[in-house]
Amino acid sequence: MIAPMVGATERAIKANSLSLGQKEVRLRSMESALDYHTARALLDWQIELGATEAIGDAPVDRYALPDTAPKSKKAAVAQAAPEKPKPVDALAIADSVAKTAGSLDQLRAAMDAFDHCELKRGARQLVFADGTPGARVMIIGEAPGRDEDREGKPFVGRAGQLLDRMLSAIELNRAENVYITNVLPWRPPQNRDPKPEEIGMMKPFLERHVALAKPEVLVVMGNISCQAVLGKRGITRLRGQWDQAWGLPVIPMFHPAYLLRQPPMKRQAWADLLELKARLEGK
Ligand code: URA
Repeated sequence: MIAPMVGATERAIKANSLSLGQKEVRLRSMESALDYHTARALLDWQIELGATEAIGDAPVDRYALPDTAPKSKKAAVAQAAPEKPKPVDALAIADSVAKTAGSLDQLRAAMDAFDHCELKRGARQLVFADGTPGARVMIIGEAPGRDEDREGKPFVGRAGQLLDRMLSAIELNRAENVYITNVLPWRPPQNRDPKPEEIGMMKPFLERHVALAKPEVLVVMGNISCQAVLGKRGITRLRGQWDQAWGLPVIPMFHPAYLLRQPPMKRQAWADLLELKARLEGK
């Protein structure tokens, strides 16, 4: 507000830190050295600019004070910006939360409360599992689609209906002897492929799910499921070959959605179902 000035003007401005009454007295005493009307005009000018308050008893030369203002707009923003929150280790959180679940109900609740997976935001609800917990066979699919997202159960759309027909051909069904879940419990937007980091983040929950459901064998359907459980892809090569994960025998099979698109592959899927049946019958 106060511009650099010299001589009488500067002295008049320094008088600005005095009260108006003090200024008046000071001005009168300056009369001999300064034309009263000039000083009066300067005071009026300051009052017009809004300098109407005394802020101290003695005048302060603010040009002589150290510069405490931020150097630039950027520096000011940096000074005012709150500290960045530390990035969370979602995988470590998933791992510790999953391990503390002591039952399937607790695991479902823990997954429902888990907020670190982006997919949750786009989905209507958690799709946890269907069928008979404790069944000898546990099927692991990929992720819910539109129908599963709406109903809250895995494999209820067209692919699920084909899966049910495949299972019933070897005398398996959800009501008695099959338990079904997916690698991911939330529907990916527009049914896109789940990202590797989403699969990795939810894997501790899947592993715990298997441990709590206690199946005798795992059936992994499609590449996403093979990737999550066996750490490898290439379903055409892997299908029908027994493998191992988490201390259990695992058989990869074609995903029923793939079989809907490629009906000739049902012949191989049938061979894999017979292989599963033979294993269950101890042959
Ligand atoms: N495909 C899957 O892999 N899982 C489902 O639940 C539905 C379709």
